[in-house]
Amino acid sequence: MRLASGVPGFDELVEGGLLPNRLYVVSGPPGSGKTTFSSMFITQGAKEGDTCLYVTMHETKSELSQDMAGFEFGFDRAMQSNTVQFLNLVTESGKRTISQFGSDGGLTNRLVAYIEANDIDRAVIDSTMLLQHFFTDVSEEITGFLSALKQTDATIVLISEMTDPSAYSDEHYLAHGVIFFHNFLDSGSMTRGVQVIKMRGTAIDCDIREIEFSEQGLRVFPDSKVQT
Ligand SMILES: Nc1ncnc2c1ncn2[C@@H]1O[C@H](COP(=O)(O)OP(=O)(O)OP(=O)(O)O)[C@@H](O)[C@H]1O
Ligand SMILES: [Mg+2]
Repeated sequence: MRLASGVPGFDELVEGGLLPNRLYVVSGPPGSGKTTFSSMFITQGAKEGDTCLYVTMHETKSELSQDMAGFEFGFDRAMQSNTVQFLNLVTESGKRTISQFGSDGGLTNRLVAYIEANDIDRAVIDSTMLLQHFFTDVSEEITGFLSALKQTDATIVLISEMTDPSAYSDEHYLAHGVIFFHNFLDSGSMTRGVQVIKMRGTAIDCDIREIEFSEQGLRVFPDSKVQT
């Protein structure tokens, strides 16, 4: 069984959807669509009755809802339903919530305990920059963080900012799947695209596909390959 991503056209690139209970890393430059993709993934989960979790430190719940309010895919409704939980790890209330989980005080154990205690089916972590707040040496501790998340029964999307498309980091190797969003100048205008870099257990071709943002959100054109 595969999970619908909630992003029109995307699932055609990955044999019909995402394998459940796996860890996916979504990377790309600023404004390329990482948060939109993740919000559609959560909205789809909410529509299917999944228990969902959105973890962030960049935005408050209302800022994220405002950012996504321009789209009509129903994120607002999903966020208001009690199937979606929102956790901002730098606000006082977020810190209070997460501190009740796990015994050793570390983010990894607490987040895993939260996911397990709340029976989370789909989770988004926006983004790896968050880890700098919690780890003294991110490059050393991220391996344990990802390994622990991979062992949960949740399907997890971890956003990892990356401006240099050739600069792979540990999370790309450790994840079950890696999705890149692209934003590049093409004779004066910006071309947007999505590329599935890897997807364990799934036949993919790694080519970049055209994407479009509209009132409906993000849409992938699986038959339209982008030449770079
Ligand atoms: N109707 C719309 N409502 C909201 N945003 C829209 C709309 N149409 C297009 N957009 C654009 O879609 C882009 C979506 O960016 P998104 O927040 O998903 O990117 P991101 O990769 O998460 O960026 P960052 O790294 O800055 O967090 C925005 O730059 C926004 O301008
Ligand atoms: Mg974002």
